[in-house]
Amino acid sequence: MVELMDSNKGRQSLAVVVLAAGKGTRMKSALPKVLHPIAGKPMLAHVVDTARNLNAKRISVVYGHGGEAVPEAVAGDDLQWALQAEQLGTGHAVAQAMPGIEEDIVLVLYGDVPLIQAETLQRFVETVDANTLALMTLTMDDPSGYGRIIRDAAGKVQRIVEQKDANDAEKSVKEINTGILACPGKFLAAVLPKLSSNNAQGEYYLTDVIAMAVAEGLQVRAAQPDFAWEVDGVNDRVQLSRLERIYQRVQAEALMRAGVTLADPARLDVRGNISVGTDLYFDVNVVLEGDVTLGSNVVIGPNVVIRNSIIGDNVHIEANSHVDGARIDADSQIGPYARIRPGTELARKTKVGNFVETKKAIVGEGSKINHLSYVGDAQIGKDVNIGAGTITCNYDGVNKSQTIMKDGAFIGSNSSLVAPVTIGNNATVGAGSTVSKDVPDGHLAVARGLQRNIKGWSRPSKKDAKKD
Ligand code: UD1
Ligand code: CA
Repeated sequence: MVELMDSNKGRQSLAVVVLAAGKGTRMKSALPKVLHPIAGKPMLAHVVDTARNLNAKRISVVYGHGGEAVPEAVAGDDLQWALQAEQLGTGHAVAQAMPGIEEDIVLVLYGDVPLIQAETLQRFVETVDANTLALMTLTMDDPSGYGRIIRDAAGKVQRIVEQKDANDAEKSVKEINTGILACPGKFLAAVLPKLSSNNAQGEYYLTDVIAMAVAEGLQVRAAQPDFAWEVDGVNDRVQLSRLERIYQRVQAEALMRAGVTLADPARLDVRGNISVGTDLYFDVNVVLEGDVTLGSNVVIGPNVVIRNSIIGDNVHIEANSHVDGARIDADSQIGPYARIRPGTELARKTKVGNFVETKKAIVGEGSKINHLSYVGDAQIGKDVNIGAGTITCNYDGVNKSQTIMKDGAFIGSNSSLVAPVTIGNNATVGAGSTVSKDVPDGHLAVARGLQRNIKGWSRPSKKDAKKD
């Protein structure tokens, strides 16, 4: 029976209103508070993404302080923006978003409460119907600063009193208002215009709608989040850093549950969307950014950054490597100290070693670039061996040109390949060559000064040196 009711409620349409107009004085920042990042993404974007997971018909964001920078930074065609030119209180803020809201249920969230979880909100919203208002509350050892939940003798929620308006008895209440609430849209639209600012802060308090709901005979339910950190707000950079660590711990635990062994869960940073196979191992200080896909049995050494890349099974990325915008296929080995730049595609069983930089390099199966090279704008076939110190000279100061190395080519150490240039199948370049003409299949190219050996050469000695 309960299930049936819940599924009926699930069919009610939902509008989410995110409050993000506040000033954030204590951030001491030119950047609007809600744009400060958690895991590289603005706090407000976290809240908006969570709202998107709720199947809301409408997501409205109330902005004000920080002006157009806020809508510019958090883009999305699915968002409605309501300007609150003056910050006259949370009730006034919600009122700015109400025109146009016709959904059954309105859920109020906060741009500076970034870690609220979609599952918690889903359950929360499902308790609301045309006759119910739901309030997210928390019991705290130290409730100071928060609005207090005032219940009657029977334990029913009656109203919320703000800290600054509370008497001593009310201040002793440890159940606080997190600010998150959900209620029928029609009710909210009807009562918001009735709010008064006759209180200690001279603001229009959203919290006053609780007593109005009770007066109108609505049932007021209080629910708690699974984790207290879900409703933690950010007012300064100390709190921001705490939530960052909590967020990172949650990411690390999710990765461990998915099959990744972490040398130290406190020394991993995830700033994006990561998908993994099983039996991976990350050493300390790994940073993953953007969209990163890692296959099974991937091993990542210490101090490695991987951004927007797809890494195949059994790939080893050794210490201090930086991988950005790349595809690295199975069984390849990268680093230590490799820099893999956007547009690099490494086929299976490739090796890119220390102090090698690649950019827009398509590298065939089994090819090796083991030491000290720059390989950019290059197409490299299978089983190509690129010797230490090889440089593709891809830039003439105006244009970028391609270097092509065909299957089985062997490039001797310290060679410069002046693009556009093609090294043929199984062709060889002698060490120290500057190659500016194509090398046909199977040929050896040697392009360097001829060696002279001078017989009986004696080096200058100390007594010959001129004395001052
Ligand atoms: C509010 C609640 C309080 C609760 C606390 C939880 C009210 C009156 N009080 O208090 O019961 O315990 O949050 O943190 O609601 N905002 C606007 N426009 C405004 C005012 C605020 O967008 O005119 C936004 C702020 O940017 C912020 C949020 O609303 O994200 C809460 O505002 P804040 O001033 O921090 O409310 P509190 O006084 O902390
Ligand atoms: Ca606050």
